[in-house]
Amino acid sequence: MNATTTAEAPAEQRSAQYDAFHAARARTDLVARLYGAAMGEDYPVEVAASSSCDWPLLGLMIARLRMRPGQLLVDAGSGTGGIGLWLARALSLRLEGFDLSSVAVAQAADRRPRFGLSAERAAFRVAELEDTGLPDASAHGIVCVDALGGAADRGAALRELGRVLAPGGRLVMTRASRRGAAPAWMEQARAAGLTVERVDERPAEPTMWERLYRLWIAHADELRSELGHAQAQNMLREAHQVLPTLPGRRAVVLTLRRTANAPAVPGAADTMTGPGRHPDERTPQ
Ligand SMILES: C[S@@+](CC[C@H](N)C(=O)[O-])C[C@H]1O[C@@H](n2cnc3c(N)ncnc32)[C@H](O)[C@@H]1O
Repeated sequence: MNATTTAEAPAEQRSAQYDAFHAARARTDLVARLYGAAMGEDYPVEVAASSSCDWPLLGLMIARLRMRPGQLLVDAGSGTGGIGLWLARALSLRLEGFDLSSVAVAQAADRRPRFGLSAERAAFRVAELEDTGLPDASAHGIVCVDALGGAADRGAALRELGRVLAPGGRLVMTRASRRGAAPAWMEQARAAGLTVERVDERPAEPTMWERLYRLWIAHADELRSELGHAQAQNMLREAHQVLPTLPGRRAVVLTLRRTANAPAVPGAADTMTGPGRHPDERTPQ
């Protein structure tokens, strides 16, 4: 699901849209089957993400996070929690997940037993990327998969994640820009008190979205009957809106590091581009 198509709506409307998506998706396995068909063998069934999260991305996140057992991982914009839960189990981490959607948060909490994780080990809360409610410098690692585009103010969101990150900790996030354009990543990271440690290209990501959107369009009648007319129309609108932009899309995984003893820079990121002023990212993130 594309976070950028809803970013400009007021907060209550955005959370209602995400609530409706997550509630509808839980009523049927059709959406998961279509993600699976689009990703093929790269689809991690157990994770069941609503995003571009595939096996290569999970592997890359592990490699880039470099976390140790017992450390705290934050899953920012966690959706129904599969990515954070999978990583927390795989790496013996503690987990804090948060999402704008209370429906997604409830589903994430319900999934904990399937990953063998207790509520003490893995907590989920309703919060916004710009205001997580998490303590300063508390996270040793943060993942943010296809969610930053949902922030009304991406600059504020990145500053907030930088605040939460402990010195030496890493934020691993998916980002997208227009091919050939100079992305604002370096400047955005600096403004949040972070350094860009790695930029990993994801050349197969746009074609995955293309396959998925074509599948949504091909299964429009099934989507309407299983998800309801309104939810299906939202997905089909997204598919038609984003498909033409995909050939020019550059998708990456950024690894941003909070250098030891470097505080997040308060108020320094106001030059960052916001949604609607950043046409480069009006594609799924
Ligand atoms: C495309 S889904 C990805 C979910 C999850 N990261 C995954 O990969 O399955 C985007 C998620 O971001 C959440 N989201 C969007 N804007 C947000 C915001 N400003 N603050 C917190 N969560 C947000 C949505 O509710 C949605 O669950």
